[in-house]
Amino acid sequence: MYFPWCHFTCFFLLLGFGVDLANSQTCRRVGGKILPCWTIVVDPSGHGNFTTIQSAIGSVPSNNRHWVSINVKAGIYREKLVIRDDQPYILLQGEGKTKTLVEWGDHDTTSQSPTFSTMAEYIVVKYISFINSYNNNPPQPAVAALVSGDKSYFLSVGFFGFQDTLWDNYGHHYYKSCTIQGAVDFIFGAGQSLYEDCDIRVIAGRLGPGISGYITAQGRTSLRETNGFTFKSCFINGTGTTYLGRPWKEYARVIFHNCKILNIIQPQGWDNRPYPNFYRNQLSFGEYNNYGPGSHSPQRVKWINKLSLSTVQWMSSFAFIDTVGWLNISLRIGY
Ligand SMILES: *[C@@H]1O[C@H](CO)[C@@H](O)[C@H](O)[C@H]1NC(C)=O
Ligand SMILES: *[C@@H]1O[C@H](CO)[C@@H](O)[C@H](O)[C@H]1NC(C)=O
Ligand SMILES: *[C@@H]1O[C@H](CO)[C@@H](O)[C@H](O)[C@H]1NC(C)=O
Repeated sequence: MYFPWCHFTCFFLLLGFGVDLANSQTCRRVGGKILPCWTIVVDPSGHGNFTTIQSAIGSVPSNNRHWVSINVKAGIYREKLVIRDDQPYILLQGEGKTKTLVEWGDHDTTSQSPTFSTMAEYIVVKYISFINSYNNNPPQPAVAALVSGDKSYFLSVGFFGFQDTLWDNYGHHYYKSCTIQGAVDFIFGAGQSLYEDCDIRVIAGRLGPGISGYITAQGRTSLRETNGFTFKSCFINGTGTTYLGRPWKEYARVIFHNCKILNIIQPQGWDNRPYPNFYRNQLSFGEYNNYGPGSHSPQRVKWINKLSLSTVQWMSSFAFIDTVGWLNISLRIGY
């Protein structure tokens, strides 16, 4: 499905509203908002354009250049979703993260398991939840969402799984007011990401007595790589006990900043056990200005805090995830 009228409409609106070059993919502005060029409605009852989300995503043409909004009615959608790398400028939005749910339960391999995969840049997702319902028996990676595209923004999105819930694989990402649930390595990958005001729900209680979970497993592989995870003003609670993280790769970088952390954290805070000791000199794990009973312990590992104040400030700011202005547009796409 392609819309030639959009070229003309956009062209005139471009002139009329003075949209600058960087915004030329978009149609028009109303107040501070940038309106999508076209809208597709997904409604299982048949009153929209499609009854499944994937058929709606599939209708977005290759090399898409105009923001398209895919509006998904409330409901439970049992399907797997893929946004291909040649499908940028998609706004995917549900009716609420407890109302529009996408659920599948694959677990054969990490790369094959995601319920939702997005490979394109310029993607915005709002008010929807992705669930991997695999029941962890036996324990397997079972990804709810794979985020592999650059310049992606998630607002009020839920990610529910057990092991490897959110594969924050590659690119600059902003997660705002999201809910992320899991027990083992449940936020992992080499994304360069700012998580702000997110609810981190630990379900490590299901691992059994004496076994702790891991919130993060970050995947930075060298000093030259700029990626890392920042959790700013987050809320951490749940069942069982957990480490804040362990390294997936040898230069892992994760900070928790201004978070409220309840009493479910292993006193050591961080783990490096799967790796030889020399990795300790290369890992950057930090905790700054957090509060709550899990935020401090005299038993914290001594090797965690090796970031300078300026690095912490950089990693906690939009400059960490945006130097080209994509976020300004993505924050304003919608109605
Ligand atoms: C979606 O359905 C509405 C109502 O039937 C129609 O007006 C609109 O053109 C359709 N949009 C697309 C993208 O097919
Ligand atoms: C923290 O999580 C526990 C276990 O799920 C729950 O009982 C408790 O009410 C939660 N506390 C807050 C402040 O959310
Ligand atoms: C985005 O840019 C516009 C104009 O360039 C500016 O007025 C606005 O404050 C910016 N918004 C954000 C969220 O940075």
